[in-house]
Amino acid sequence: VVLTQDELKKMAAYKAVEYVESGMVLGLGTGSTAKHAVDRIGELLRQGKLTNIIGIPTSKQTQEQAISLGIPLSDLDSHPTVDLAIDGADEVDPHLNLVKGRGGSLLREKMVEGACKKFVCIVDESKLVKHLGGSGLALPVEVVPFCWKFTAGKLRNLFKASGCAARLRNDGKGEAFVTDNGNYIVELYMEKEMGDLRAASDAVLRIAGVVEHGMFLDMATTVIVAGELGITIKNK
Ligand code: A5P
Repeated sequence: VVLTQDELKKMAAYKAVEYVESGMVLGLGTGSTAKHAVDRIGELLRQGKLTNIIGIPTSKQTQEQAISLGIPLSDLDSHPTVDLAIDGADEVDPHLNLVKGRGGSLLREKMVEGACKKFVCIVDESKLVKHLGGSGLALPVEVVPFCWKFTAGKLRNLFKASGCAARLRNDGKGEAFVTDNGNYIVELYMEKEMGDLRAASDAVLRIAGVVEHGMFLDMATTVIVAGELGITIKNK
């Protein structure tokens, strides 16, 4: 049997939910993979197999999903320490560094996952890359709308040696995509590797106008990969 990509996402998500224990404060991820995990948590709560869970959603979308499932919610102001977060990713490198945010929720994801004792990342095997940016897809950067072209120019210039192109994400209807925080997303496409990721991350964050970027370096403590041959668990 050949499994669909969505079935693989679900396998990884269900495996991750095995890490959840009653009484935990949980970071609830965003995207089509994390959605399965949130559904599963809702199901286990309904069945009484999990109790006393508090969810911290990483987007308005996940917040709505969690509310519809009856998962009690809170935020980082009230719960600054999160026991475990479960979320997807767009790319995973061999050191468990991630690119996230193609769903547009990278800022809240980084805040919540940065506050977690454990961050279990769930992916199907198509997300594995040799180096970040290696899938040919964009590295998203959240920027303030004010003079975003100026900020995009700074980003392009920073990665000139990597052959960087920068584009504003649109909402599919000809308008700029607006994040949950009222910002824009500039998408970076590299022809060549970025080199030292930590240095790249620091340099991007030093640009005034940049709010956050989608490289999640050294944050995932576990990555669960679902593939045709089963599940692989990689620990930091
Ligand atoms: C949302 O902003 C993202 O970081 C998602 O977690 C990421 O894009 C993975 O999404 P899928 O599970 O839909 O591939």
